[in-house]
Amino acid sequence: MAEGRFDNPVVAALTGFYDRYRKQELEYRFTEEDNFNGKTVLITGANSGLGFALATESAKRGARVIMACRRAIPEAGEKVKRLSGSDAVEMRYLDLSKIDTIHAFVNQLKEESINLDVIILNAASAAPRSRKTESGQDELFLVNYFSNFILVNLMLSKSVIKLDEKSQQRLIFISSDSHRGSSNIDYQEFGKYFEYGVSKAISNYSYFKLVLNTFATELSKRLNKDKTLLQVNIICPGPVNTNIIRETPFLVRIALRAIFSVIFRSPTKASQPVIYLASSDDFQGKTNKYLHMFIPKNMDEKVYDEQEGKKLWRESVKLWKQIDSNAAIFSE
Ligand SMILES: NC(=O)c1ccc[n+]([C@@H]2O[C@H](COP(=O)([O-])OP(=O)(O)OC[C@H]3O[C@@H](n4cnc5c(N)ncnc54)[C@H](OP(=O)(O)O)[C@@H]3O)[C@@H](O)[C@H]2O)c1
Repeated sequence: MAEGRFDNPVVAALTGFYDRYRKQELEYRFTEEDNFNGKTVLITGANSGLGFALATESAKRGARVIMACRRAIPEAGEKVKRLSGSDAVEMRYLDLSKIDTIHAFVNQLKEESINLDVIILNAASAAPRSRKTESGQDELFLVNYFSNFILVNLMLSKSVIKLDEKSQQRLIFISSDSHRGSSNIDYQEFGKYFEYGVSKAISNYSYFKLVLNTFATELSKRLNKDKTLLQVNIICPGPVNTNIIRETPFLVRIALRAIFSVIFRSPTKASQPVIYLASSDDFQGKTNKYLHMFIPKNMDEKVYDEQEGKKLWRESVKLWKQIDSNAAIFSE
């Protein structure tokens, strides 16, 4: 059975205490010069928490921002416009637990010939128990891993993501350092629905971040054989004081709220290393890099296992074909 690093939300949150005070090696490299200068930045889950801060900070730094959200359209976009003083902010509907909305979203980007410079895959669910989606998978599996596989493959198949050494679009996965220490990927339960409660949900959250990082690593290898055509990088924003715990059981939520508000960093502060990764020249030509806030690190060694990466890709292709007659796989 797949297991993540934590199964207790309070222990997981307290680990953030240590992280918060780590030396931020590359922070000095992030300056006002790190600007988007009219580039287009797409952010999923941009209506709340880190995604909202990323949208606001990107707009302040000269980006045209596309906020892909399932809620708060248009209020969140209006708020970003107000806070950033920029009108170059748009909102699009995207519910990552509904595969047809991912198709509609990518088709719309294609029809409008939108050139994306930076794509930040930030949305994630912290569902406190199993929940079956319309297509029959568990919500945490679909939203936190599989929808990203579908979205990226569709964008590549429809040339919304273009492979070009010169323009080098940037694809950024928002992950979590809690992926470290998760078990190997369990293909017996891959994409299957079964019922579970809060401990397994916490464990699955970090486990699916390991799966996501393994996918990002395999993607980077497939696309960037001799030279970098697409920058595929991964970042953990560290502990962020957001509303990610909104569905946690009441008493646990009260304890977590206290820890979050005292120890965790504001979304604006936590957005800084992500903006750095998205905009700085320091990453030109670099792919499959992992930052934990401003600290460059290796991910869990399982993420780099070549056979695992290939197997994950194969199993993901197989599942997508089974559940979606419009599957458009970019690379088999
Ligand atoms: N907070 C932390 O301490 C922390 C630490 C490490 C990593 N992270 C990562 O940071 C990212 C942002 O998390 P956050 O802390 O900012 O949490 P958050 O405030 O809960 O934001 C999560 C975002 O994902 C969206 N989302 C959830 N399910 C979705 C779906 N089915 N379709 C489309 N969007 C969906 C949410 O939209 P709704 O508002 O509609 O639910 C929300 O916009 C996540 O990837 C998370 O794993 C967070």
